[in-house]
Order: sequence, then C-alpha cells, then structure tokens
Amino acid sequence: MRVAIYPGSFDPITNGHLDIITRGSKIFDRLIVGVLVNIDKKGLFTIEERVELIKKVTKHLPNVEVICFNGLLVDLAKEYNAKVILKGLRAVSDFEYEFQMALMNSQLDPNIETLFMMTSSEYSYLSSSSVKQVAKFGGKINGLVPDEIITEVYNKIRNLGGE
Ligand code: PNS
Repeated sequence: MRVAIYPGSFDPITNGHLDIITRGSKIFDRLIVGVLVNIDKKGLFTIEERVELIKKVTKHLPNVEVICFNGLLVDLAKEYNAKVILKGLRAVSDFEYEFQMALMNSQLDPNIETLFMMTSSEYSYLSSSSVKQVAKFGGKINGLVPDEIITEVYNKIRNLGGE
C-alpha cells in the first residue's frame, strides 16, 4: 500500500491545493491530507475548521483522508506508515523554502522521501494568503477556492474584521 502525506497550513484550501490532492490521489493508494501548524503563520481559520473545509471539497475522493496534527511532520508520516511527503511546487520562489523543509525532514527521518509535483499553470499564482487579501477587500475569489467554501471564507473574514 503506497501511502503519502500531503501537508500544509491550508488556511484556507485553494484550488491549487485541490489540484495537487486530486492528482496525488491517482498516484497513491492512500493520501492523507495533514493540516499542520506552521509556527511562522498566523491563522484565519482554526485547524479544525480547515479540516472540515478540506473534507467538504474532497468527499468525492475515496482514498483521501483529512486529519490535523500538532507536531512534527515526520512523526505524522511514521504514524500513518507513509514513506512519501507530497508537496506542490508553484514557482522558483517556492524552491528555497521547500528545499529547506525537505532537507530538514530527511535529516529527521531519512526513510521518508519528499516528492514535488508541479502545480498546474492556471494555479501557479495562487496562495491562501492572496485569497485572504482579495476576499478581505471585497474582490472575487471564484475560481481561486472551491465553490463550496466561498461563502465560508467571506463570512470568516467579515466576522474577524479582516484579520
Ligand atoms: O502550507 P505551509 O504553511 O507551507 O506548510 C508548512 C508545514 C505546515 C508543512 C510545515 O510548517 C510543517 O511541516 N510543520 C510541522 C512542524 C515540522 O515538522 N517542522 C519541521 C519541518 S521544517
């Protein structure tokens, strides 16, 4: 059984993330989407809310599971017996950050490989932060995040005063 973990902050999930999840689900027998804490980022949604949003938009993918984890990514991978960490790469600008994390994770556990999947070109400019910026100032986020969560993103930003 080929198990992979697709980790991230997913605050919120974007169509770029969903593209990687969909493509990854065809390659691995089991794909665990792990919502993890990135200590460098201040969150909009709680970790539990992010999990619910991802579950909502991946329910048609039977081999995808969504979980949250408060700890090291390699420990999560071990818990699920995953030998692969799947990551999406948008542009050269992602490379340094992702390379650093991949090397750190391989230093923590050399048995786990990080595999990068190129983002589809239509999503190469997309990030959760830019979605939040656009939504905060009333711009349209259609096509940027899955349709089923558009209202939730607007509501959350409105309720928190655009934090
Ligand atoms: O979507 P992001 O914010 O780029 O995802 C980063 C994330 C959450 C995958 C990363 O911060 C992470 O792995 N956090 C868990 C703690 C950990 O294992 N750190 C060691 C790797 S540098």
